[in-house]
Amino acid sequence: MDTAELQKLDREHLIYSWKAQGGWVPTEIDRAEGIYMWDTDGRRIIDGCAGLLNCNIGHGNRHVIEAMTRQMEKLCFIAPGFGTEPRAKLAAKIAEHTPGDLDYVFFANAGAEANENAIKTARWFTGRHKVYSAWKSYHGATAGSITLTGDPRRWPAEPGIPGVVHFFGPYPYRNPFGVDDAEECGRLTLNMLEEQLMYDNPKSVAAIIVEPIVGTNGIVIPPKSYMKGLRQLCDENGILLISDEVMAGWGRAGKWFGIDNFDVVPDIITTAKGLTSGYVPLGAMIWNKKIWDYFQDRPYASGLTYTGHALACACGIANIEVYESEKLIERSAENGKYLAKKLEELKDRHASVGDTRCIGLWACIELVKDKKTKAPLAGYNNAIRNVSAQLGKIFMDNGLYLYCNWDYIFISPPLIIDRKQIDEIVAIVEKGLEWTDTLAG
Ligand SMILES: Cc1ncc(COP(=O)(O)O)c(C=O)c1O
Repeated sequence: MDTAELQKLDREHLIYSWKAQGGWVPTEIDRAEGIYMWDTDGRRIIDGCAGLLNCNIGHGNRHVIEAMTRQMEKLCFIAPGFGTEPRAKLAAKIAEHTPGDLDYVFFANAGAEANENAIKTARWFTGRHKVYSAWKSYHGATAGSITLTGDPRRWPAEPGIPGVVHFFGPYPYRNPFGVDDAEECGRLTLNMLEEQLMYDNPKSVAAIIVEPIVGTNGIVIPPKSYMKGLRQLCDENGILLISDEVMAGWGRAGKWFGIDNFDVVPDIITTAKGLTSGYVPLGAMIWNKKIWDYFQDRPYASGLTYTGHALACACGIANIEVYESEKLIERSAENGKYLAKKLEELKDRHASVGDTRCIGLWACIELVKDKKTKAPLAGYNNAIRNVSAQLGKIFMDNGLYLYCNWDYIFISPPLIIDRKQIDEIVAIVEKGLEWTDTLAG
């Protein structure tokens, strides 16, 4: 089928996410390997955001494909009450890498479902109903997860589920306190949260859920002291700390889990994406020992037909083996430093770059109209203008796919990327910045 025919078929029947349906014509992708994908016209495109920040091991990995093929020949799926070797082994393998005593795994199909289960767990475990989440956050698109989400993707889904309360997290580059120092920003933000909890009755709060490093809301990296303070605040008030590691986990932030960057152990981790690098969908919610003990003689009243799908679990095991054998977590940390330096250089060269933030191979360029005043170029929810659509086009015309939204350009390639390929990405990003510079000043 040629590209035009395929696009016509696609637009006759398919509903796309997050879009008005009219007028959208997708680039049709035929195949992918390593950090590259090829469209149906044979054009090579760099997958500069690893799919949707999930394909951490890169495309077409033979070790994973062969493990999945072997599993498919044996058993794809069995009713969830049965045990299977891939499910038991993957849970054990996850426990090898999670911090502290987070050793108990419930499998979901993706990130949003993992968060739904975390909400239920926290409410049942504490007997409280409120869940706190940050304004600058995305936690998924199902009923509970989209209510947790702080950003405007929540707006059309309101009123959402009851009991969710939003709070301000630290955003050192832009904060209502007007301070530049990250530590100071963290301290003041924590004070504000403590105050909010006091008014709201801390004993009514079951959990605080955070992205340890804020993902699609701009790769915001909190100071270590903030995360430690948050842990302490939770402990003092009997509140569970949930780390949403759907994006931050599996090496993206240069450690096995994003929270490992802060030497903090949460009570629950939710994850997905890099758990299978997207070869098949799989999510997980991981409990610590005290939650595990609580449910020993009480039912965990939740389930999914596909919890612990045998094929997905076999994929997860092989995928984690690739992280281990190719030292991808370490490579993410090392090459992330290189990428961070390259982005710093872009900041110096371009009037429209206000800030660059990078941790592991997880980076964001924040665009501004004016470096001094930090006036945004697109503005919150594109309140000023839509910059990302044109930027995305410039990148694609130059053979690079990047996720761009509002004032943010995200660079988060597969962790297998080498430095020459990073240079290739940065050179194309620069072409986009030449255009955004014309809007600045
Ligand atoms: C931090 C975070 N949590 C949850 C989700 C939702 O995951 P999924 O789309 O797999 O349901 C995402 C997706 O991007 C995410 O970034």
